[in-house]
Amino acid sequence: MSPEGRAALAALIHAEMPNLPVEAHDAATGHPLCVVGFGPDEVFAATEAMITTEVTMGARTRAFEAAWAARCGRAHGVMVNSGSSANLLLLAALVETGQLSPGDEVLVPAVGWSTSLFPVAQVGLVPVIVDVDPRTLCMDPASAAAARTPRTRAVLAVHLLGQAAEMGAYDDLLVLEDACGAHGATIGGRPVGGVGLGGTFSFFFSHHITTIEGGIVVTDDAQLADAMRSLRAHGWVRERSDRAALEAASPEIDPRFLFVSPGYNLRPTELAAAFGLVQDRRLDAWVARRRANHADWSARLAGVRGLTVFPEAPGTTHAGFAFPMLVDGDRAGCMAALEARGIATRPISGSNLARQPAFARVPALTPVPLPVADAVHTRGFFVGNSHAFGADHGVRLAAALAAWSAS
Ligand SMILES: Cc1ncc(COP(=O)(O)O)c(C=O)c1O
Repeated sequence: MSPEGRAALAALIHAEMPNLPVEAHDAATGHPLCVVGFGPDEVFAATEAMITTEVTMGARTRAFEAAWAARCGRAHGVMVNSGSSANLLLLAALVETGQLSPGDEVLVPAVGWSTSLFPVAQVGLVPVIVDVDPRTLCMDPASAAAARTPRTRAVLAVHLLGQAAEMGAYDDLLVLEDACGAHGATIGGRPVGGVGLGGTFSFFFSHHITTIEGGIVVTDDAQLADAMRSLRAHGWVRERSDRAALEAASPEIDPRFLFVSPGYNLRPTELAAAFGLVQDRRLDAWVARRRANHADWSARLAGVRGLTVFPEAPGTTHAGFAFPMLVDGDRAGCMAALEARGIATRPISGSNLARQPAFARVPALTPVPLPVADAVHTRGFFVGNSHAFGADHGVRLAAALAAWSAS
């Protein structure tokens, strides 16, 4: 683009999007699940990608991958088109590289997102559902220990709604992290996604930062990263670091269309990566505000009769994706009371995934009791948290819950 064209385009986009991204939301207007977290800078970057016709996976994607991997203290990042795809890709690559074999058991918490669980079975592994810790709603190491068998090879920890899961108890297993809803959270001073063998993130519209749809896997394992680069893009050899050797091993095949693994197409676009590069610069400040909200709201609500909240666990920093609660008694009535005051509610992710209808078609094991997940299933819900929310949202939430509790 010409310098004049860039300046004119930037001025136009900025004029059309004056108050975006939303930085401060007025609590008097309600309490939505999320706010619009992108603005003219992201739209300019994506538009520039289109105007230059650089739209398919390329330099912007590589730059975002490098930035996100560095953020997590990892050597490699492999960007994809969703967090669900990131989970699928990581697990498929572990099978592709032989680090896991079909039939191996993978410990998965009962409370997570549907596509934390389903990809385990989709690549031929056996999900073993374990309970969650009543203090964090993340996987309970004691329940995981009780569910282990000689076939257990890996654990998929889900950092639920911004709370980092405990991961120290699984030393002899492959530790995988679903950090799709915990961008910027830390455990023991380390960023989530940067602790296990591989970590995944989602950049869906409502997450801490967004590429509209999008996701990434980070890892230090070069072989795994290469497998993911093939599996992400048709199974071809192109983005692999060991490309030269693989091409030499198949001299009869044109290297431009050399397929070395039975892959998918999970690629992101350059528009998504352009968004991501701008959004990455916003994350730290935004997560700090989410964390402060989580602490403030936890303190405000701790005294509400019949309500359980989940303060940041010791040794972690909370990324405040959403604010979960458990109620004694009439959950539907409580959620209706909040909705009536403009406070949006949702169940806690998939709640007990073993009780979802789709679970009947997943070849999974449920060897241990799931009382905490069941409590989440019947008594849990969350409200939104956001960098644009503040103490006022906590005040309104506390007032609404106190009124419900007294009714
Ligand atoms: C824990 C967890 N895993 C996976 C996903 C899936 O991410 P996506 O919506 O980008 O596919 C989500 C989505 O919110 C999630 O919260």
